Amino acid sequence: MALSSPPDMYQLLRQFLFIFDAEAVHHFAMHCLQFLCRAGFRKIITARFSIRQAGLSKELFGLHFKNPVGLAAGFDKNARWLDELEALGFGFVEIGTVTPKPQAGNDKPRLFRLPQDKALINRMGFNNDGVKVVAERLRQENLSPRVPRTALRFCSREKRFSRQSGKVRTMMELRK
Ligand SMILES: Cc1cc2nc3c(=O)[nH]c(=O)nc-3n(C[C@H](O)[C@H](O)[C@H](O)COP(=O)(O)O)c2cc1C
Repeated sequence: MALSSPPDMYQLLRQFLFIFDAEAVHHFAMHCLQFLCRAGFRKIITARFSIRQAGLSKELFGLHFKNPVGLAAGFDKNARWLDELEALGFGFVEIGTVTPKPQAGNDKPRLFRLPQDKALINRMGFNNDGVKVVAERLRQENLSPRVPRTALRFCSREKRFSRQSGKVRTMMELRK
C-alpha cells in the first residue's frame, strides 16, 4: 500500500487505533494533539485545517465567529481542549454537559464503535468535572474576549434533557 496520500495514512492509522478502546483512543488522540500544539506545531495544524474566508465569518450576539462550524456538546465535556479544537478549525465549541456536581458517569466500556455504520454509540452517563472546576478552568483560559470559543451548558442531574431546567451561559458571562 502506498503511504503517500493522506487517505491511505488515515486508513492505516484508523485500523491501528481501532484495536484499542474507543474512549481511551479519544483521550490519547487529544493528548497527542495537545502535545503537538504545545511543541510548536500549532501554526502548521491551524494552516492545514482552518479555512479563512471572509464570507464564512459572522457577528452574532456581539461576538465574532470565524466560521459557522462548531463542535457539539459531548466531545470536550470539561473544556480541556479548547485551544486544540480551535487549531482544528472549529468556529466555536460547545462544552459539557456540565452538571452542578462532578460525576463519574457509567461504568466502562461506555463508548462503542459501529464501524459499518460509521457511527458511535455513547452511554457515557454525563461524566464531568462539575461546574466549579470547569468554570475555574474557563476563567484561567487566556481567551480573547471577542472569540466565542465556548458555550457552557448546565443541566441538572435529575432533568438532564429538560429544556426548562437547562441554563445556557456564554463564555462572555463567565468572564464577568
Ligand atoms: C444541552 C445539551 C447537552 C448535551 N450534552 C451531551 C453530552 O454530554 N454528551 C453527548 O454525547 N452529547 C451531548 N449532547 C448531544 C450532542 O451535542 C449532539 O447534539 C448530538 O450528538 C446530536 O448531534 P447531531 O445534531 O449533529 O446529530 C448534548 C446536547 C444538548 C442539546
